[in-house]
Amino acid sequence: MAIVIIRQDGKIPEWKEALSAASSHVPIYSYLEEHPKEAIDMALVWKHPPGTLRAYPNLKCISGSGAGVDFIFEDKEAPLHLPITRVVDQVLAQDMSEHVIGVILAYLKNLYTYKVDQANRTWKPLPYKRIEDYTVGILGMGALGIVLAKDLVRFGFKVQGWSNSRKKVETVKSFVGQGELPDFLGTTQVLVCLLPLTQSTAGILNKALFQQLPKDAFVINVARGGHLVDEDLLEMLDNGHLSGAGLDVYHKEPLPISHPFWEHPKIHMTPHYASVSDTRSVVPQILENYRRLRAGEPLLNLVSKERGY
Ligand code: GLV
Repeated sequence: MAIVIIRQDGKIPEWKEALSAASSHVPIYSYLEEHPKEAIDMALVWKHPPGTLRAYPNLKCISGSGAGVDFIFEDKEAPLHLPITRVVDQVLAQDMSEHVIGVILAYLKNLYTYKVDQANRTWKPLPYKRIEDYTVGILGMGALGIVLAKDLVRFGFKVQGWSNSRKKVETVKSFVGQGELPDFLGTTQVLVCLLPLTQSTAGILNKALFQQLPKDAFVINVARGGHLVDEDLLEMLDNGHLSGAGLDVYHKEPLPISHPFWEHPKIHMTPHYASVSDTRSVVPQILENYRRLRAGEPLLNLVSKERGY
């Protein structure tokens, strides 16, 4: 019995230390060190190198260490018949909410423009926008979307959400399925994508969708690069239909230096760091799932293979 951590972002020591400190009796290994492959029954993964999970003949669970598990399904050599879990965490949701609120306020109060003006020593007051005049539409009302919706309501925004099933959040209008998408888009001035990336949501942020937003809408993608059709965003920004975009995620990360997003004056980029799993907050649910796995009890935050999230 043991857990292996597989990730390529330099954070294995941090996760190993946090897991070991919280549970002295479960051996925790990095996939990069010498370790007994047949002893591993849980793999804790984040963007693991495809194929690495095949090394573990007795693996019983793939535990994704973030909210999104799309990278697991993309690994064609992963043992996808095993249970897959993801992280559902209040701190992760709160961090995401704070990031999105920051981006929206920077847009409403012209902070992006003033940063450029400052670099050019330009003094140019601009009319600002008010929260009370804005409707934010959230695509994806899951664990992250609902926390954001509640926070935006507290700030005074009008808020609506679009999801697969009807959501009951006080004062947040719920739109469901393809049939209600046009009405949702038609009244959304700031669109936030927080959808899981699946076959049915890939490329959803495209020209046809953008055209249904009111003129001057602002788009925020903090989900996955695969949701966005990059050329369609550029076209709709350049033709003046959209007024700007805040992006945290990209098709290829790091974004290649030749990509047009880097220099686009209406695109405001962050490096896929809107919200990252905090080991202190997440480790207890990983270890609880490990205990449940060993005890044959139902796992927490199980991913549905049919839905892909
Ligand atoms: C971050 O992108 C996550 O999925 O947690």
